[in-house]
Amino acid sequence: MTATMLLITIDGPAGAGKTTVSKLLAEKLGYRYLDTGALYRAVAVAAQFAGVSAEDDQRLDQLCANLRIHMAADRLFLDGEDVTERLRSPEITMLASAVSARPVVRSALFGIQREIGRSAGVVAEGRDMGTVVFPEADVKFFLDASVRQRAQRRFGQYSDKGQSLAVIEKDIRRRDENDSQRDIAPLKPAADALTIDSSSMTAGQVVDLMMSHVLPLLK
Ligand code: DC
Repeated sequence: MTATMLLITIDGPAGAGKTTVSKLLAEKLGYRYLDTGALYRAVAVAAQFAGVSAEDDQRLDQLCANLRIHMAADRLFLDGEDVTERLRSPEITMLASAVSARPVVRSALFGIQREIGRSAGVVAEGRDMGTVVFPEADVKFFLDASVRQRAQRRFGQYSDKGQSLAVIEKDIRRRDENDSQRDIAPLKPAADALTIDSSSMTAGQVVDLMMSHVLPLLK
């Protein structure tokens, strides 16, 4: 008998704990973890390298057509170069949010994401996994948390990068607005997603709750 392999999506705003939880869930299930935010961040790095602005659809289109992204373990390679360390800088974070609002970028990344998700046994993390990229997913979660709580978590992670809590909170509000107000694939829970508010939960508690929804489907 072959084991049931599920496609699980986890969407939600910045700082809700998606990455930690998605990795833990994938590890527990022995599934592949797909970080789609990293793909948008990779486009931002490529745009920055090439001096392409987030408003220049024509050049973004060309850039995406020639994009060679390779993800291995926790590293991301762009044209063979390991750009992992650049992905999380504040500039790339804001640029990724800006390029992710461009339809040319979203449609280029759509195919790449579908290809990776084609083999089931995947935990896919992002903003539109359950709504647009994998509407057929077996289990969909929407992970949320208060802005203050999300800013505090980021502050804990990035305190060495010298950003104050107030600046991080402002950036999160700006990003929330960009991500949820855009015309294409705005951030919102899929109609059939289970929303989890992680404000007062540990990552372990969130994963346990998710597992309680996933396990019955594996039987
Ligand atoms: O999850 P993240 O912070 O690494 O995502 C970076 C940016 O990419 C974020 O501003 C929203 C965008 N994004 C998106 O629009 N759709 C996705 N599926 C994943 C990320």
